[in-house]
Amino acid sequence: MDYPLVVGNWKMNLTLSEATILVGQISRNAEYIKHVNIVLCPPSVFIYPARDALKAKPNNLYLGLQNTMWEKDGSYTGEVSLSMTRNICKYSIVGHSERRRLFNESDEIVAKKVRFCLDNGITPIVCVGETEKFNLEDHFTTELKRMKSSGGILSQVDQAISKLKKEEIKNIYFAYEPIWAIGTGNAATGVYASAVSYIIRNSLKEARGIADEDMRILYGGSIEESNVKEFMMQPNLNGLLVGGASLKAKDFCKICQITSEVKSGK
Ligand code: PGA
Repeated sequence: MDYPLVVGNWKMNLTLSEATILVGQISRNAEYIKHVNIVLCPPSVFIYPARDALKAKPNNLYLGLQNTMWEKDGSYTGEVSLSMTRNICKYSIVGHSERRRLFNESDEIVAKKVRFCLDNGITPIVCVGETEKFNLEDHFTTELKRMKSSGGILSQVDQAISKLKKEEIKNIYFAYEPIWAIGTGNAATGVYASAVSYIIRNSLKEARGIADEDMRILYGGSIEESNVKEFMMQPNLNGLLVGGASLKAKDFCKICQITSEVKSGK
């Protein structure tokens, strides 16, 4: 079984000096946090300085992009290509809800980006999530229909992997991020996130015959030190995607430490 993955999504935050200080602080701590892989996703303009700020790069600490273009180069004003950060970034977030909502990123575009990541040796972290909370206890059948309908999370999952062969699916991560929980301080419960993750797993098993151990699903949405244990105790979740709390070294390292302890049973 893989180590759990904890991803810090810095979004469009921090100054250059704050960013390099944060990388330095996290990288000094990372080597003491065992059995967990950690990914930092600074704004792309900070990727090279972040690489330089890594202290004696611990082998469980990686850099990632928050977004990527689906072509190697060309006339794409304002975009950044994976090939520009090759050998530096091992991961890329793809289809974050903010990209889908604010920049009209469609499922089709997400699928192209996922394909492009895999063709270039980058592990995509594909975000999916619902805008309105599900009521799985009282309306399971209706909610399952909503998940499968256009724009629903199962449709997002299905389309994101539409350009992949079955054996490639184990090389990606999904990040299940209920949109109502992102940046609101109103996280889902561990049980809720685990239930939705189970439904995603089941649908991948039915549709593509993917074995449970080949699916990796993170939870994201208002993760903080106090709720990490609740999520990481769930068997259907393989790690976390952290936004706001990844901007402070102490908070983020604590989140990684708790993840390590809970998942390794210490
Ligand atoms: P949050 O963000 O942890 O601040 O809610 C999560 C995300 O957007 O990935």
